[in-house]
This record gives sequence, C-alpha cells and structure tokens, in this order.
Amino acid sequence: MKKVNLCLLGASGAVGKEMLKILEERDFPINELKLLGNKDAGKKVKFRNKEYTIEKADKKSFKNMDITLVAVGSDISKKLSPIAVKSGSVVIDNSSAFRMDKKVPLVVPEVNPEDVKKHKGIIANPNCTTIIALVALAPLHKYGKIKRIIASTYQAVSGAGKEAMEELEQQARDWAEGKKFEINAFKYQICFNLIPQIDSFDKNGYTKEELKMLNEGRKILHSPNLKVNCTCVRVPVFRSHSESITIETAKKITPKKARELLAKAKGVKVVDNPAKFQYPMPLDTTNQDLVFVGRIREDISAKNSLTLWCAGDQLRKGAATNAIQIAELVLENLKDKK
Ligand SMILES: NC(=O)c1ccc[n+]([C@@H]2O[C@H](COP(=O)([O-])OP(=O)(O)OC[C@H]3O[C@@H](n4cnc5c(N)ncnc54)[C@H](OP(=O)(O)O)[C@@H]3O)[C@@H](O)[C@H]2O)c1
Repeated sequence: MKKVNLCLLGASGAVGKEMLKILEERDFPINELKLLGNKDAGKKVKFRNKEYTIEKADKKSFKNMDITLVAVGSDISKKLSPIAVKSGSVVIDNSSAFRMDKKVPLVVPEVNPEDVKKHKGIIANPNCTTIIALVALAPLHKYGKIKRIIASTYQAVSGAGKEAMEELEQQARDWAEGKKFEINAFKYQICFNLIPQIDSFDKNGYTKEELKMLNEGRKILHSPNLKVNCTCVRVPVFRSHSESITIETAKKITPKKARELLAKAKGVKVVDNPAKFQYPMPLDTTNQDLVFVGRIREDISAKNSLTLWCAGDQLRKGAATNAIQIAELVLENLKDKK
C-alpha cells in the first residue's frame, strides 16, 4: 500500500496518544509523520522506535500532508481543518465541528463505510457514545428497523480529555490521604460521585451530548425519522463508556435472534451469560476495539422492544481506532481510483 504523509493535530491529548499507539499496531503506511500541538510543542514522542518532536500548529503546518488526523477541540478544528484541506490534506476530524455539515460524511466503518467516498476534504468521526451504541445497534436495525432508541449512558472521565483523567486519579489519591479535593475539570467532585450532565444544556432540557446521539444517529443510519431519548451521565471510571439501551423495532427481534445477529456482526463481541455473571464491564472493554454487548432481554413493558447493555473503549473505538479505520478506507479508495 502507498505510504502517505500523515499529520496528527493534538498529538499529546488523550485521543492523540491513542492514535499513535493504534497507527503502530495497525502498521499504517506512513512516509512522513508530523505531530502538532500547542502547550506541548517541543515535547519528544517515540513512534516506531524513532523520536519525533511535537511542533506548534500553524497555518503552514499542513503543507505536503496527505491525511490529517484531528484530535483537538471543535473551536481549533474549525480554524485549522479548512486550512489543512486547502493545503491538500484529507482531514479526519474527531471533534464535533463538522459532524452535522451536509457536505461532510459522518462515518462508523462497521455501519456506513460507503459514505467515506462522498467526502469533499473533511470526514467526521462521530461522538464516542454514538459510535459505541451504533456498532451494537446497526445489525439489529438492518434486520428489524429501529424506530426508537431510549438510552442512558455511563461515560468514563477520559471522554473529557487527559486533564479529566488526571483529576479522577488525583481526587482518589487526595481521598486516601484525607486531603481536600481540587475540582477543575468537572463542575463537581467526580471521585465517588456521578454527574448527570455532559456538555451544556439545550433549551429543551437535554444536553448537547444527548442530542448528538439523536442527530448523529439519524445521519449515520440514514434514518431521518429515528426517535431517540438519551440521558448522559459522567461516572468515575477511567475509560470505556457503558450504555443501557432499549430499542423499539418495526419487526420483532427476539433476544435469541439479537444474539445471533450480534455474534456475526463486525466489531461486536457478545458477552451475555448472566448465570455465570458474564456481562460487559468497562474494565474488560478497556484497551481493545470491540463493543461488548450483553444483558440482552425482551422489554417486558412494550411490544417489539428489546433491552441491552453495551460497553466499549471510547478512546479507541469511540475515537482513535474509528478515525484510523476511516483513514484506511480513504487509502483503499485512493488505490481503487488508480
Ligand atoms: N476523549 C475522548 O474519549 C473523545 C472521544 C471522541 C472524540 N473526542 C474529541 O477529540 C478531540 C480531542 O479530545 P481529547 O480528549 O484528546 O482532548 P485533550 O486530552 O484535552 O487533548 C487536546 C489536544 O488538543 C491540543 N490543542 C489544544 N489547543 C491547541 C491549539 N491551539 N493548537 C493545536 N493543538 C491544540 C492539545 O495540545 P497541547 O497539549 O500541546 O496544548 C492536546 O493535544 C476533542 O474534539 C474531543 O471532543 C474525544
């Protein structure tokens, strides 16, 4: 496969660091690698036994880059991604900046890989909670058409970036030493607590994070009438988001059928043996790419309705791995065109 010049914007962040690991693991074909950041500019990073220095990102950073992986916040992505595209790069953006832009494909490779071909320079990586839910739900949707999703999420602190992860660890240490907690990354203490707010509130009482599941789910599944009711909660877990999901389908899906469909699905592992205390848990899904699905059962309160529990590493499948899978599709499409 042709080697490409690859740029990683946000190389020292929680997602950026995972990207470097996954590029190595998947043996992504790289010619030149450029690592960009802001405060961490000047820091040395090892990749494939070679030392790289993080450079401060500016307008000229993207010259000669074929693909730019963006792992910064949406404000910075809005400024720099269009510059990267103008410089000739295909941008794969982890932020929410362009996800709902009609010209920008929003892709989960296990669900809608063909959408990558429609890009005009930018391809968006969906929200992490949405990716994990849709890897589990797309096979069921294909069989029985999902009409409505009701979800509650249990989201790890690393979903809020490296400083949030450090804060949970620090609070746990401070608790053990009987010290007063410092609170910076979240509005409240997160150690030994839950916070039922992720992102800011919309006028309708839902948070932006909750509305992402609705809007992004519709776009990825090409299902404009899909109904979604979601509650997102931050929990004191380092990584891997978990979700309790109930779906209402046009065609009935029995738990047995659901297990069969999910056992064959790409990117899914069925862990569903309650008698042996086997179900998905964030500690088990950390540091790997599959979405684990279990607790599959009929919703006894409604017709054609099924309940399940899933968990997945949101730094990997919910962000870094998904973006690199998209980059691999971009490379395949380049090869097909030749
Ligand atoms: N964390 C997750 O689970 C997750 C999942 C899906 C999507 N995302 C999205 O992925 C993006 C990155 O998230 P994260 O969790 O990795 O955040 P993070 O840990 O806070 O890292 C942010 C990165 O952005 C860089 N940065 C900040 N200002 C910059 C600037 N002006 N110019 C260049 N680089 C700059 C930082 O570099 P310096 O340290 O050098 O300043 C750092 O590398 C966000 O859009 C987030 O919403 C995150």
